[in-house]
Amino acid sequence: MGETKTALVTGAGRRLGKAIALRLAKDGFNVAVHYCGSRDGAERTASEVRQRGSRAQTFQADLYRREACARLIEDVLDHFGALDLLVLSAANYDAVGIDDVTEREWDRALDLNLSAPFFLSLAALDSLRARHGNIVFITGMGATRPKRGFLPYMVSKGATRQLMRTLALELAPAVRVNAVAPGTVLPPEDLSEDEVAGLVADIPLQRVGSAKAVADAVAHLAQADFVTGQELLVDGGVTI
Ligand SMILES: NC(=O)c1ccc[n+]([C@@H]2O[C@H](COP(=O)([O-])OP(=O)(O)OC[C@H]3O[C@@H](n4cnc5c(N)ncnc54)[C@H](OP(=O)(O)O)[C@@H]3O)[C@@H](O)[C@H]2O)c1
Repeated sequence: MGETKTALVTGAGRRLGKAIALRLAKDGFNVAVHYCGSRDGAERTASEVRQRGSRAQTFQADLYRREACARLIEDVLDHFGALDLLVLSAANYDAVGIDDVTEREWDRALDLNLSAPFFLSLAALDSLRARHGNIVFITGMGATRPKRGFLPYMVSKGATRQLMRTLALELAPAVRVNAVAPGTVLPPEDLSEDEVAGLVADIPLQRVGSAKAVADAVAHLAQADFVTGQELLVDGGVTI
């Protein structure tokens, strides 16, 4: 049997990050469960990973802070000894009308959604190269089809897709780099039923997706050993 691999999943205390962590545990990965504020959620994720027979440890980091990115990777390496897979799911999704965008909204989106994944990737490079590991970014359908009212977020996700493609080129052949772009899979929890119905009307498959569909796509890319520089859209066809 091969050596057990370790994955770090950012934002794994809830929702999509949690589903990805549990899916990777099912595939035999040990999981470093990153969280910022969702401490209890992260402990629950870790406990569910252990129930699936893998090792898990939680790590707190506020990824708006640049130095926290390097420290998070150091802490994970100290604990697990190596890192084979980086899944970059933590992000914000702030609604802001074009007339209200200030430096603050711009920086919040770019710092957490674009810069943090980049600096986490850089910090993890030595281990990923040594282990022929890979990186999976979580972008979003907005990278392909932006919508109104979220300009900094849409720009951050489009730029993350370009970061993914460029890093894939820079890091080949040692490290593969891909992305999963969810469509509407877990709508924001404060949306009304009518608002969700409005989103569904626009989706060719006529339903919202599941966290499982996104987690399955991540698990697929994690082991797709001739695939790099690709974004897998899991969006019910909304970007066709
Ligand atoms: N849900 C969807 O339908 C959908 C659609 C398209 C794209 N996506 C993308 O999929 C990913 C996950 O989406 P989601 O809906 O599960 O996210 P979410 O519920 O909005 O959760 C955001 C995650 O980011 C983490 N986070 C927030 N601020 C942070 C900070 N300062 N430092 C570190 N981590 C921080 C949170 O951690 P704590 O809770 O621990 O603070 C949480 O795990 C995101 O990249 C999102 O853009 C989601």
